[in-house]
Amino acid sequence: MGRRRIFLIFCILAIFVFAAVQCTQVESISTDSRGSGYAGSATCVSCHKDLATSAFHNSHFKASKMLNKPNSADSMHIPDGTFIFNENTKVQVKNRPDGLYQSALIKGIDQKTEHTDMVFGAGNSAYTFAFWYGNQLMQMPLNYLTKEHQWVNSPGFPEEQVYFGRAIAMRCLECHSSYAEVKLTQAENFSIKEEYVKNSIIAGIDCERCHGPAAQHVNFHQENPTVKTANFMPAYKELSFSQRVDACGVCHSGTGLQMLSPTFSFKPGDTLKTLPEYSAYRGEDPDVHGKQKQLLEASLCYKIGKAECITCHDVHEDKKPGLALYSAKCISCHQEVKHEMLKEKALLAKNCIDCHMPIKESHAISFQRSNSKKKIPYKLRTHRIAIYKDLIKAK
Ligand code: HEC
Ligand code: HEC
Ligand code: HEC
Ligand code: HEC
Ligand code: HEC
Ligand code: HEC
Ligand code: HEC
Repeated sequence: MGRRRIFLIFCILAIFVFAAVQCTQVESISTDSRGSGYAGSATCVSCHKDLATSAFHNSHFKASKMLNKPNSADSMHIPDGTFIFNENTKVQVKNRPDGLYQSALIKGIDQKTEHTDMVFGAGNSAYTFAFWYGNQLMQMPLNYLTKEHQWVNSPGFPEEQVYFGRAIAMRCLECHSSYAEVKLTQAENFSIKEEYVKNSIIAGIDCERCHGPAAQHVNFHQENPTVKTANFMPAYKELSFSQRVDACGVCHSGTGLQMLSPTFSFKPGDTLKTLPEYSAYRGEDPDVHGKQKQLLEASLCYKIGKAECITCHDVHEDKKPGLALYSAKCISCHQEVKHEMLKEKALLAKNCIDCHMPIKESHAISFQRSNSKKKIPYKLRTHRIAIYKDLIKAK
């Protein structure tokens, strides 16, 4: 009798423990909003520690961030500021204990104040801010320029008035985040509204955004710790040249690229050419903003030399390599350049970049200064690697 009772209690306990384990397992699998095929980048650390800790701090991971905790904007060191449209109309930016705010002031009276809920950009040159308006993400009136340390009117916004009315489109999130679920609804004026499922957004560009769903890979290697070759994980080096370039090109071909479905499901091995409205280089210089793929495709280094994005860029690195290291990549293919037409050859060994990938102004984006109609240009390096004779003559 006593034994039977102990046995019964044991059985009940066993069932309880089993159920508890099942529950926690289900919970740990279902935390990724992309579904159970995805493991989440936190799980990669246990086996890819060095690579992951470096990648967590680079521009891809920081390409966007939710600011839903009071101190989440602190590490960005964004100062208070004021932007003057005219003597009556201003925008004030203030750091408060619970976050960063932008307020529209007309004749000194607060007309509208919004809390910053999300930021776009790693801060290499600019930050764009957004706030929740119901389930829509709306762009804040001002951008912050990190090199100029200035608050500026957001690109394309009205020059004379404070504007809170532009929605952040899904397209921004396709390139600046890992996932967002969107619901299309009709606004009162019959236009289409993009409403986000708030907690579905995975800010920043994470491991699986580039490598594809990895839950199977993680499970396999957790269960088979002695296996040292990758399972259930496509290897980049086994992809074709154009597949590798397109793995970057999906976000580095500009906004004109229109796809049938969001690019979130794009994975290694997919290509852009099979998708509609693919825009290839047609002889004009594509804008330096966001069109690294088209520009590189217009270079002989790509066409003949098969130089690709990862020839020069280590995507897991969190430090900027500097121009001397990039130049070493050029020299690895160009050992014997005579440069007979150049007088000054001192620079050559350390810096191929300034002459052959000069910095250019974007025609698509510029920023309006405070109290002025003057625009601050958005400058980037062109990826059309070529001989820029005009640049040389001007020197
Ligand atoms: C339990 C251990 C383990 C975990 C967790 C793990 N991996 Fe791996 N992964 C491996 C092993 C082992 C290899 C093969 C050796 C190597 O390349 O480091 C590998 C290789 C890879 C490769 C290279 C594939 C190739 O052949 O070029 C990629 C990419 C990769 N893992 C991505 C991920 C991502 C993304 C995550 C997180 C979602 C992750 N791994 C989590 C064990 C793991
Ligand atoms: C999901 C979209 C996406 C994919 C895929 C992607 N990138 Fe990016 N990349 C971005 C965005 C967005 C930025 C700008 C980040 C920022 O500064 O906010 C960026 C920035 C960069 C930078 C500048 C980093 C810096 O710190 O200056 C390099 C270099 C780069 N990407 C190379 C690559 C390469 C190489 C690949 C392919 C292996 C790739 N990217 C794939 C979206 C993407
Ligand atoms: C912007 C896209 C991108 C992101 C984000 C990214 N990777 Fe990679 N990863 C690549 C590319 C491209 C390669 C191939 C590099 C090469 O062959 O030079 C690669 C290679 C690898 C490899 C195998 C080769 C190596 O360098 O050891 C592993 C492992 C890996 N990635 C894991 C990860 C993990 C873990 C994360 C997240 C912490 C991550 N990657 C984030 C694009 C990315
Ligand atoms: C097709 C992909 C793509 C789309 C769509 C896109 N971006 Fe970007 N964005 C990039 C890339 C790539 C860069 C970095 C280099 C460049 O400008 O070419 C960048 C740079 C930025 C930067 C500057 C980042 C820094 O570190 O200085 C901000 C801010 C930004 N984007 C915000 C946005 C917003 C807001 C939207 C939507 C209106 C948007 N982007 C749409 C790819 C994209
Ligand atoms: C993977 C090899 C490779 C890499 C890396 C590479 N190139 Fe090239 N590049 C070539 C080949 C091949 C050609 C075409 C034949 C030639 O002119 O030597 C070429 C052509 C050129 C040309 C002549 C362009 C023209 O239109 O006449 C210049 C200039 C040049 N490269 C500069 C550079 C610079 C600067 C870098 C580094 C930023 C670089 N290359 C990186 C392989 C490469
Ligand atoms: C031959 C070398 C080379 C190749 C190939 C190359 N890049 Fe770059 N990339 C550079 C250099 C050099 C810079 C400037 C770095 C700096 O100023 O610190 C740069 C900067 C960038 C930036 C930052 C924006 C800027 O202008 O500062 C992005 C984004 C980028 N590259 C993406 C790509 C993508 C995507 C590809 C493939 C389509 C690619 N790169 C191919 C050399 C290269
Ligand atoms: C001061 C500007 C400047 C710098 C720095 C510079 N180049 Fe050039 N490069 C030119 C000009 C101008 C030409 C065309 C006239 C000539 O060949 O002298 C040229 C031509 C070339 C060519 C095509 C001609 C040939 O002989 O194949 C290549 C390749 C090249 N450069 C690569 C490089 C590399 C690699 C570096 C860095 C080690 C570099 N350049 C540094 C200005 C420069």
